[in-house]
Amino acid sequence: MSSHTTPVPMMSSACGPLAGVAEVPGDKSISHRSLILGAMCIGETTISGLLEGDDVLDTAKAMRAFGAEVSNLGGGNWSVHGVGVGGFAEPDGVIDCGNSGTGVRLIMGSMATCPITATFTGDASLNGRPMARVTDPLALFGAQSVGRKGGRLPMTIVGAVDPVPAHYIVPVPSAQVKSAVLLAGLNAPGKTVVIEAEATRDHTERMLAGFGAEITVEDTEEGRMITLTGQPELRAQHVEVPRDPSSAAFPVCAALIVPGSDVLVPGIGLNPTRAGLFTTLREMGADLTYENERIEGGEPVADLRAKFSPQMKGIDVPPTRAASMIDEYPVLSVIAAFAEGQTMMRGVKELRVKESDRIDAMAKGLRANGIEVDEGPDWWAVNGLGHGNVPGGATCASQLDHRIAMSFMILGMASNAPVGVDDGSPITTSFPIFESLMEQLGAKVIKGVL
Ligand code: S3P
Repeated sequence: MSSHTTPVPMMSSACGPLAGVAEVPGDKSISHRSLILGAMCIGETTISGLLEGDDVLDTAKAMRAFGAEVSNLGGGNWSVHGVGVGGFAEPDGVIDCGNSGTGVRLIMGSMATCPITATFTGDASLNGRPMARVTDPLALFGAQSVGRKGGRLPMTIVGAVDPVPAHYIVPVPSAQVKSAVLLAGLNAPGKTVVIEAEATRDHTERMLAGFGAEITVEDTEEGRMITLTGQPELRAQHVEVPRDPSSAAFPVCAALIVPGSDVLVPGIGLNPTRAGLFTTLREMGADLTYENERIEGGEPVADLRAKFSPQMKGIDVPPTRAASMIDEYPVLSVIAAFAEGQTMMRGVKELRVKESDRIDAMAKGLRANGIEVDEGPDWWAVNGLGHGNVPGGATCASQLDHRIAMSFMILGMASNAPVGVDDGSPITTSFPIFESLMEQLGAKVIKGVL
């Protein structure tokens, strides 16, 4: 959805205790991958718990454009009749991935070794994000690309007619880049090798194995080495999408800062490549417990219980943890404002090329709300004021970024004066029920006023 809709101002203010059960939607990363891998199988893949946010719906539309039959069966259940590895048809029109970097990069990878041409675009945020990080490795397979200056969308990819496998060391910690290369490797004969120096979320590897691809992972001196054998016949199957830890972060963090709160967030995936925020919060002294720990669909899952935690302390977040909580730094910076002392976040250069420059967006909004923030190219530090001392009172720019909008809404729930965002409409990209779910817990979120 590249033509951005009318801005929707939002405001949140202090409220009584948050209480109850917060059932957050399906995991965004796994939802995109289920649709794409389903489209690359012959036969029917069924998906339950799919996140029906704008980002994923744009990927569903794209898979239809490449020839798969994608149906919404209702209640979060979807069906995909795929076209097989290498079977993508050439789309008639431009593929619009809306706000989604994951959508566009994974889809570019999946079509780059098919003998077809496709043109991609997105909204103003996505069209400003770097794509050379994906098109550079796709060129190794024989795909060509032409885009705007600086490797920006809109961009056309001409898929390789006779793809060759690639050997690629990912230069930035990015699961999107790693996944684009692996998806391209599916239709290249022989072995594609991807090496990542830092482990990033591993859903693509796990799901490829689940869909029947031959894939191995080894720790080597250069890093985590993934080897994929190309041109497998993927097995259509049922995928149950777990609930998204990145969405769970919002009700969890709200409960930690709103006095008297006690919130249960059930069924959250605690895959170590995603759970860094929860480890960090516990180190800060959050009353956050894992209940009913279990394995579901091969992933560790637990019910998270978060209670008001007035004694949290600022910490130095280890840079080695960055990849496992990369989407959670904005809301962590809100928690840091309510903690005592400084929270230092290093090794987070990638935050500058997300849906917005997330360090800039959060630093500006936090400062406007009375919180001191220091920043450098790849680090930032929030100087916590402690519970009860966060002024609030300002309206922040969400910069077309769902996680920035939601983070400021959480800030307003415990600051001394209400906090606004100029545009909360991007929230529907990942968490369409955010406002109603937070209100059901007892939060005060008002839409359409400033
Ligand atoms: C994602 C990877 C991350 C993350 C994004 C989802 C994925 O991006 O920020 O929200 O599903 O692979 P990078 O891989 O670019 O770090």
